[in-house]
Amino acid sequence: MSTTTNVTFHNYIDGQWKASVSGSTFENRNPANTDDLIGLFPDSTSSEAAAIHAARRAYDTWRLVPAPKRAELLFRAAQLLVERKEQLACDMTREMGKVLDETRGDVQEAIDMTYFIAGEGRRMYGQTVPSELPDKYAMSVRQPLGVCAIITPWNFPMAIPSWKIIPALVCGNTVVFKPSELTPLSGLNFVRVLEEAGIPPGVVNMVTGGPAVGELLTTHPDISVVSFTGSTAVGRLVNQNAAPSFKKVHLEMGGKNCIIVLDDANLELALEGCLWGGFGTTGQRCTAASRVIVHDKVHDQFVQRFVARARALRVGDGSRPETQVGPSISEKQLDKVMGYVRIGREEGATLACGGRRLTDGAFAHGHFHEPTIFTNVRPAMRIAREEIFGPVVSVLKCASLDEAIAIGNDVMYGLSASLYTQDVNRAFRAMREMNTGIFYVNAPTIGAEVHLPFGGTKATGNGHREAGTAALDVFSEWKSIYIDFSGKLQRAQIDNQ
Ligand code: UN1
Repeated sequence: MSTTTNVTFHNYIDGQWKASVSGSTFENRNPANTDDLIGLFPDSTSSEAAAIHAARRAYDTWRLVPAPKRAELLFRAAQLLVERKEQLACDMTREMGKVLDETRGDVQEAIDMTYFIAGEGRRMYGQTVPSELPDKYAMSVRQPLGVCAIITPWNFPMAIPSWKIIPALVCGNTVVFKPSELTPLSGLNFVRVLEEAGIPPGVVNMVTGGPAVGELLTTHPDISVVSFTGSTAVGRLVNQNAAPSFKKVHLEMGGKNCIIVLDDANLELALEGCLWGGFGTTGQRCTAASRVIVHDKVHDQFVQRFVARARALRVGDGSRPETQVGPSISEKQLDKVMGYVRIGREEGATLACGGRRLTDGAFAHGHFHEPTIFTNVRPAMRIAREEIFGPVVSVLKCASLDEAIAIGNDVMYGLSASLYTQDVNRAFRAMREMNTGIFYVNAPTIGAEVHLPFGGTKATGNGHREAGTAALDVFSEWKSIYIDFSGKLQRAQIDNQ
């Protein structure tokens, strides 16, 4: 049955909701049932510079609003998110596909981040240090940077925008936000909340659309910061676009995260972690546990149980309470998943379960795929090295912790890793040796909390972190201030006779 609604949504520029200059639109459809048209969104182009101009103008006043006052508006936004959580989660499941428990979690992450960062409005600590000269003060303060371009993906359509927009605002910057074309409604819902919380016109602007908008935001001279989460290929492009005008660029890209299961692990706990880490969000997290590295001694037993449990996962529409694994976000994403299943087979890995697209009955109009496990995977195989972003887990064997660490680190990414063991010495060794930005002991690779830094090493990022107070480092820069109240010229670093 078709549930077509044909609602037309708009860009948000300078406090006004308006159609794009191009006038064209794109469709947003439910990935669990593509007959369900959620709405039409502006297919904006590079002619949307008005959003940047509005943000540039608004910056002149917003940067001077005392940070605790800016934060008051953010606290109000957090409260509105709390009140609307259920509706926001339902909208999100409808456009993104993940199960309601997870979309509630996504909204909760936005709530937590907004409360946490709004608290920074009364902190944003700088340093006050002794001067080397008498009657002189030395201190540092955070200063905003200007207009921030915020470019976000579809897998956490409200949490990730909040990780970027809220710290940008508390620091005194203004924002032009481009949500993913696949989840514009959640982006828009977030902007509506900010509008209703009283964020002044021009401080937050939203432009929906594809690469043309991305190009505008990453090249325009009035943009000072670009914060991007998405694929490594697009991240590289963002960096290249932004380089000539020396924008500050924060990139958060791919992952190929592993869970290491040692011979002394609590196997039941490890199994639950691998199921949640591998198939939660249909594997569409940059933190997903797409590799499981299991010690020889427990390998066969673990695999047998892991496969049985994965087979029992209930795939379906995320809005139904019994569903555990929702659809892939799009036909293109599903094609990628199926492509990697083919690659895994050709490479000689064993398809232990899954491997097929689901098309019958209730699956007929969605992008559904069976939870899939490959065993006998070797580290050199593409399925063990490349990010798949779908319900596909590769199981590899190891003979020792050192071998597991070597396999774990031997990929281009470095976001998250995890170890299941009862041995504190092994846990600490792995914690030190895994070259990732996030590490877990006896928990899966997913589930980072908002008040610690989030990000990765190597091709996962470019050295910045978001979330935690580290987010302030992306959206502000330091000014060092010296105040001399001696009434005479004092010369630093010059020997005094
Ligand atoms: C992402 O997958 O892009 O740590 C973000 C986690 C979530 C965030 C994931 N809190 O899995």
